[in-house]
Order: sequence, then C-alpha cells, then structure tokens
Amino acid sequence: MIGFRAKSPFQLFFKTMCFFIGIFSANAFCFAADTALKNGKLIEETKCYACHAKKSGFGNGDMIYTRNDRKVESYSRLKAMVAICNSELRLDLFPEDEADVAQYLNHQFYRFKNN
Ligand code: HEC
Repeated sequence: MIGFRAKSPFQLFFKTMCFFIGIFSANAFCFAADTALKNGKLIEETKCYACHAKKSGFGNGDMIYTRNDRKVESYSRLKAMVAICNSELRLDLFPEDEADVAQYLNHQFYRFKNN
C-alpha cells in the first residue's frame, strides 16, 4: 500500500490507529450535523409551527419563512429572529437549541450561504 511501510510494530499500530480515528471523527461530524437538523425540526414543529400558522393567516406554519415580504434576509438576521421569538415569547430554548432551529430553518427554507 502506498505510504504504508511500517518499520516496527509500533509504527504499524500507530498508523492503524490514525486511520481509524480519522474514520470515526468524520462519522461523528456527520452524525452531529444530522442530529442538529433533526433537533431543530422537532423544536420548530412543536414550539413554533402552530403559532406561525395562526399569526400569518396562511394556516400553514411553513409559509411565514417563504412569504414574499419575509423579514429575514441573511443568516445573522435569521439567528436574531429566532432569538427574538424565543425570548419575547418565553419559549425557554437553550442556546444550542436556538442554533439548531436556525440551522434547520436555513437548511429547509432560507438557504443562506454566509453562515
Ligand atoms: C406565539 C407566536 C409565535 C411563536 C410561538 C413563534 N413565533 Fe416566530 N413569529 C411570530 C410572528 C407573529 C412572526 C412575524 C413577525 C413579523 O412579521 O413581524 C414570526 C416570525 C418569525 C420569523 C421570521 C420569518 C420571516 O422570514 O419573515 C422567524 C425566523 C421565526 N418567527 C422563528 C421562530 C422560531 C424558531 C420559533 C420557535 C422556537 C418561533 N418563531 C415561535 C410568532 C411566533
């Protein structure tokens, strides 16, 4: 194998460990991103959707994020808006949950690149 000429058992062990640590950390990273989106979606559906459906007058909680005159025009505005809804309405989200919801909303609706 190219670049895999271990000279001693220790080197062999070390290289093998590096290989597996690489795989595991890549996995953990993908898993964390996936969990954030799932967590964000769950929070949106349970804490945010119903009120948006009612207040927007559309009867659909997703449309507040996609309406023509939507408020949010950047990722920083999105995070600010999530924070406003969270604190004004006393939804008691933890900062990690707020970040997860913002990430989910961006992934699902806004698609800003500069986050
Ligand atoms: C009790 C009602 C209520 C709840 C609960 C609520 N919101 Fe809102 N939210 C609103 C209203 C009303 C607006 C529209 C504000 C406006 O148009 O000025 C809004 C607007 C928003 C917007 C801006 C949409 C846009 O692009 O124009 C975001 C983002 C948002 N809310 C996020 C959230 C999140 C995330 C949650 C849950 C953690 C949440 N809101 C919970 C009432 C609520």
